Amino acid sequence: MHDSAHDSHSFKLDLSPEQMLKVIFEYTAKIAIEKKLESVLILMANMGREMVVADRCTVWLIDAAHAELFTVVAHGIKEIRIPYGSGLVGAAISSGLPIFIDDAYEDARHNPESDKKTGYRTKSIMTIPFRNNQGEVMGAYQAINKLTQAQTFSTQDMEYLTLAASYSGKSLESIMLHQEIIETQKEIILAMGKIGEGRSKETGNHVKRVAQYSYILAIGLGMSEWEAEMLRSASPMHDIGKVAIPDSVLNKPGKLTEEEFEQMKQHADIGYEFLRNSKRQLLQAAAIVAWQHHEKWDGSGYPRGLMGEDIHLYGRITALADVFDALGSSRVYKPAWKLDRILELIEAERGRHFDPMVVDVFFKELPSILEVRDREADIPEME
Ligand code: C2E
Ligand code: SIN
Ligand code: SIN
Ligand code: FE
Ligand code: FE
Repeated sequence: MHDSAHDSHSFKLDLSPEQMLKVIFEYTAKIAIEKKLESVLILMANMGREMVVADRCTVWLIDAAHAELFTVVAHGIKEIRIPYGSGLVGAAISSGLPIFIDDAYEDARHNPESDKKTGYRTKSIMTIPFRNNQGEVMGAYQAINKLTQAQTFSTQDMEYLTLAASYSGKSLESIMLHQEIIETQKEIILAMGKIGEGRSKETGNHVKRVAQYSYILAIGLGMSEWEAEMLRSASPMHDIGKVAIPDSVLNKPGKLTEEEFEQMKQHADIGYEFLRNSKRQLLQAAAIVAWQHHEKWDGSGYPRGLMGEDIHLYGRITALADVFDALGSSRVYKPAWKLDRILELIEAERGRHFDPMVVDVFFKELPSILEVRDREADIPEME
């Protein structure tokens, strides 16, 4: 069978020690500053591929909760998942030992199905498990098709890939831990937001929608992806101070008296007091949002009557996101408004309640905002 990739003129050479060092330095520098798990998996796979001069290289991780192995391929949006023990990777991971194969088609553990689909010819394979800081196997490197004239992987290759693998185990573990903490933080925040929401019997997905609207507005206003993400995570807490408002006021079916409304207005200061002492950036953002989401551009809002750009941009963004959603939802004291009427109010309040710049972005981004509104619509409760 003729395979142009293996014509003699296209064979590559193994790396010289200098080239090897260069590859290692370049990739470890990139990996050290990368925080996204997918990006690190791809960088590590590319590092492995260059080190052992393979055509392809994949880093596999164990997903213990689902008894699966998964990986991400370069530029792939999608993860690939296989059952825990399956294939050569599965064999290497369950035994904890490296596997070398000179021709995959002569080994029963190799699954030739994907080659059949893609027309790719897998020949030599080297699979090396790697361990976390506790010494437990947490994944494996898999290099495919050696591109040198030998066409098979050597013990030297194994040593190099083992080196990359030992580094991977430690980096990946700290990144996975970091992600776990971030995800936990987000869930706690969402849960806290829902407490504020739940007490006041507000409709189910209010805090989630406000989060998404805030994100869309933030990006539209030119905020960095990182900061917009932070605002998205922080904004569900805007009404956390409502937990301290008595039920009789919070869930009063009709209009509030002046005195009751004064009481209600305290939720902004109360929320701020809950959150202000945290050093965590995310909670500081949440404190600003809780404090300032009822300030108005013209200075007529509360609790401090701030005006214009004295109101933090987070406050100006969540003010619009919150009111847009509150108007479109039914409350104990009012039915949901029709969209036309809501949009009219927002236009009329441009430069009064709302920052004109935020209103302009709102109308520009209206299609994606309405998409969120539909996607996260409240499902009426059973009974
Ligand atoms: P909420 O119901 O989530 O409303 C959030 C904000 O959306 C309100 O802030 C207001 O700016 C806007 N909004 C909501 N409904 C209407 C409306 O029918 N017309 C207009 N023009 N704007 C509306 P606001 O006014 O500072 O109220 C803060 C919170 O106080 C409200 O959150 C709600 O929990 C409570 N609240 C306000 N008015 C009443 C009331 O008459 N009865 C009861 N039970 N609660 C009220
Ligand atoms: C978050 O988890 O970032 C907030 C919730 C959401 O965006 O829906
Ligand atoms: C909300 O819509 O839950 C917010 C009402 C408020 O911001 O007080
Ligand atoms: Fe509020
Ligand atoms: Fe709200």
